[in-house]
Amino acid sequence: MTDWPNHGTISGPIVMIGFGSIGRGTLPLIERHFTFDRSRFVVIDPSDADRKLLDERGIRYLQAAVTRENYRDMLKPLLTEGSGQGFCVNLSVDTSSVDLMEFCRELGVLYIDTVVEPWLGFYWDNSGGPASRTNYALRETMLAAKNRKPGGTTAVSTCGANPGMVSWFVKQALVNIASDLGHKFEEPKTREGWAKLMADIGVKGVHIAERDTQRAKNPKPTNVFVNTWSVEGFLSEGMQPAELGWGTHEKWMPENGRTHEKGCGAAIYLLQPGANTRVRSWCPTNGAQYGFLVTHNESISIADYYTHRDASGKVLSRPTCHYAYHPANDAVMSLHELFGNGGNMQPEHHILTESEIVDGIDELGVLVFGHKNNAYWYGSQLSVEETRRIAPYQNATGMQVTSAVLAGMVWALENPNAGIVEADEMDYKRCLEVQMPYLGPVQGFYTDWTPLKDREKLFPEDVDYSDPWQFRNVLVR
Ligand SMILES: NC(=O)c1ccc[n+]([C@@H]2O[C@H](COP(=O)([O-])OP(=O)(O)OC[C@H]3O[C@@H](n4cnc5c(N)ncnc54)[C@H](O)[C@@H]3O)[C@@H](O)[C@H]2O)c1
Repeated sequence: MTDWPNHGTISGPIVMIGFGSIGRGTLPLIERHFTFDRSRFVVIDPSDADRKLLDERGIRYLQAAVTRENYRDMLKPLLTEGSGQGFCVNLSVDTSSVDLMEFCRELGVLYIDTVVEPWLGFYWDNSGGPASRTNYALRETMLAAKNRKPGGTTAVSTCGANPGMVSWFVKQALVNIASDLGHKFEEPKTREGWAKLMADIGVKGVHIAERDTQRAKNPKPTNVFVNTWSVEGFLSEGMQPAELGWGTHEKWMPENGRTHEKGCGAAIYLLQPGANTRVRSWCPTNGAQYGFLVTHNESISIADYYTHRDASGKVLSRPTCHYAYHPANDAVMSLHELFGNGGNMQPEHHILTESEIVDGIDELGVLVFGHKNNAYWYGSQLSVEETRRIAPYQNATGMQVTSAVLAGMVWALENPNAGIVEADEMDYKRCLEVQMPYLGPVQGFYTDWTPLKDREKLFPEDVDYSDPWQFRNVLVR
């Protein structure tokens, strides 16, 4: 594709916070798809590792860390310089998404991020106990901000690949499954309508089922954590408690499972780190696989969004929803090394750039299960080769994220007064339309696989044969 569409004008300044693997990859997409004033584009990052990409483009670079103490003073002049409406693109770690989005909304500046990120220190502070370190708790702070000030300037929360794009995939998958089942329906226009459609076609749950097969040219050295995206981001979420949206069909909960006393009530957490919690799942290319049940915002937001209630508010049904992530083999080995060493992090971190990767795809989709056709995976199968052809400075994992950021930015420009939104609440068709050119093949696959397949061959196991899609069967114990 050479004739890239222009998706609109950003009339005010653009402030990008964080210029790591995702920031670098988002930059060429912003340049390609928006009209904007280059002299008011600023990138803020304490690390100047990739400064030359900015210098060669004449984009301003501010070497600084955004902190709780300085964010208002530092950002206000940058976000409000000159005329027009500014756009804050937060692609950093260790900056509070909620504080930044509330501040942007005060200023009338559009905002987007890819995770409900807290200020530095949150992930490693256990003084409030494990519940306080969950994504459930983080998401509740975002929901509180939304409730405090409904409507107003748009702030798009958690709009990367996952969380983000996968919420759009869930809607497309539901429409495809319902059509294939011959279910008579009109496409829903409300949250309640979507929740009812999911319930009506008998869906019990959703895995965010991902298999990253990108292989590095050089083998992983001992004592280096290697990943295809932020090592810091992955370790932070990986050491949070495992978390999942908790479906109404579940009959068993692990002994170390805990519910929350406050908030939306859609999720539970386990008293163990997500990156050391394995689940059985399925992706099209490699079939059955173990994935890590790493906590993610979408596990909770999807379970919450698709909670079907009666007129009195009583919950009638809710899907189970969680991540089942098989990262690149080097990252699996890095986790094995880390947990084998008492959970102590390797002293060196490394993110594989596209030039260090031999081959591989990031197969990222949603496995929607429990309906009459058993299970359906719908998602992107983007290869590193295709990624190289489409845009610079990123691997396949990165492009699934950066193109979702692009889609979220387009949606925000087209809906500038929508308040704080999650991907579940956005127009999935429009967002996927913007993103599709960057996703490689996007396809759906039915499978007859269930977590009961090939069990108890040599040893007895604790399984529930009455319903294959019980978490009891999914969790590796
Ligand atoms: N939703 C998704 O699909 C998805 C996918 C990948 C990454 N992410 C998130 O996107 C974010 C960026 O990921 P990445 O792979 O680019 O990470 P990265 O580690 O490559 O980059 C993060 C950048 O933030 C900078 N930074 C650190 N502290 C800062 C501060 N106080 N102020 C400004 N900048 C600061 C770092 O110097 C670094 O350059 C992370 O929060 C990650 O969890 C989301």
